[in-house]
Amino acid sequence: MSKFLVLFSLIFIVARVSGQSLPIIPQPAEEHVGDGAFILDQNTSIVFDAGNAQLADIAAQLNEYLNKFYGFELPVNAKTKSELSLKLIKALPLGDEGYLLKVDKKGIVITAKAPVGIFYGTQSLQQMLPVSPTEPKQLSLPVADIKDQPRFVWRGLHLDVGRHFFPVSFIKKYLDYMAMYKLNTFHWHLTEDQGWRIEIKKYPGLTDISSWRNETLVGHAGKSDKYDGIGYGGFYTQSQVKEIVQYAADKYITVIPEIEMPGHSLAVLAAYPELGCTGGPYKVGQTWGVFKDVYCAGKEETFTFLENVLDEVCELFPSKYIHIGGDECPKDRWKECPLCQKRMKDEGLADEHELQSYFIKRIEKYLNSKGRQIIGWDEILEGGLAPGASVMSWRGIKGGIEAAKQKHNVVMTPGSHLYFDHYQSKDTEKEPLAIGGYLPLSQVYSYEPVPEELSADEQHFILGAQANVWTEYIPSTMQAEYMLFPRVCALSEVVWTTKDKKDFADFEKRMDTEYQRLDKFGVNYRKKD
Ligand code: ACM
Ligand code: ZN
Repeated sequence: MSKFLVLFSLIFIVARVSGQSLPIIPQPAEEHVGDGAFILDQNTSIVFDAGNAQLADIAAQLNEYLNKFYGFELPVNAKTKSELSLKLIKALPLGDEGYLLKVDKKGIVITAKAPVGIFYGTQSLQQMLPVSPTEPKQLSLPVADIKDQPRFVWRGLHLDVGRHFFPVSFIKKYLDYMAMYKLNTFHWHLTEDQGWRIEIKKYPGLTDISSWRNETLVGHAGKSDKYDGIGYGGFYTQSQVKEIVQYAADKYITVIPEIEMPGHSLAVLAAYPELGCTGGPYKVGQTWGVFKDVYCAGKEETFTFLENVLDEVCELFPSKYIHIGGDECPKDRWKECPLCQKRMKDEGLADEHELQSYFIKRIEKYLNSKGRQIIGWDEILEGGLAPGASVMSWRGIKGGIEAAKQKHNVVMTPGSHLYFDHYQSKDTEKEPLAIGGYLPLSQVYSYEPVPEELSADEQHFILGAQANVWTEYIPSTMQAEYMLFPRVCALSEVVWTTKDKKDFADFEKRMDTEYQRLDKFGVNYRKKD
């Protein structure tokens, strides 16, 4: 067969009606289950271009998985009875992230345009393996053809490490979970009122002072005034940050750091009070909520500080986007601060919203000069959007619609569907204490990221969607897993699977297998009602 014909026959899988569906999450674009099976065992070699380091690494990651959960590895580029072949074909028209996965009775072939597609093919393959094989080292796979590619380019998951700190080992686990479900953007919320979590060499006060609080509220903010009297804190060293960024890259995940400004900055002010309007003194936050003390927008020192911080952040994170926060910045102090008021007068700014816009635009200009783009929460629309800013729409979808209409990129993260800090049951007594809300699995699954209000042209500005995990009420890794699972599985179909292929009843059926897999991994997921 000519090369063209091979490609042609690979791409056009005839979709026969088949009763069987594969337990793959997110649901692939096309799949067909045939008759018979292939046995994957130690006589199957992973075969690929040995000169390609990325393919070698993907093969090693697959072997690590097999070893961990089935107790054996496959030989690599060896002469064996059967093959699991990883093939790059540049002309494959499925985008970089798409792949073909073909299992027949003789072997397995994963084909993609780029290594990331091969990686996603191996993730699907892992989900097709029997959870509890009858013969532990003989893994039976159904004969199948899969053709797959994602719907959105931004398939995000966020983690707030400011309110509670999570160790490097858990961040890696989190990235493992993301990769399993083909999520590709980790939004690392690194700075908060209650703790600054990233080492910045120029400002040691950020780790000596801003990363620690003296005590923490017990119970729910607004309902409790009890504190635990126990010091709490932690931060990631630059070497740990580099380790995590590399670990993510090996799983084809981009890490977007968030450095909050102008609000959510109380912890910084505790160490550097000269950056606030009143000069302090300030204390690292010990309760949850929104604090009035924010960076002074009138002082040049504020911008010098942030630019120096961002210099180090850009050295550590190669991402195109840097998240600059922008949410929940009370304007009380700015209204009373002579320097902020002078700035408004000098710059011809009509109100404090325009002062916030000035702040963000100035930071955008700086980051653009370093070749980066900014993304911020939807409050950055207020007072005028910075020229190249992308918007994360969290207060519903209004901000996302407005930004797309202004021809700005948008990531949808509405609280109504994608805030994983909300309760998973109406019976909150039976759940761990949470911030509020009610977000069951079905509601996450039902989310459609492209608003009907947008024209076809405007819809192109919706890059994708993301779920957020705020951790005021999530003090442990066990609880973080509980809030994440199974909702992260539903998220993956929101951002990967096309609308016509989404089916909640079918998803729940596939979840029955996935729960067994999660049991095998030891994941603390929330059980079905
Ligand atoms: C947010 O939830 N404050 C972005
Ligand atoms: Zn001020």
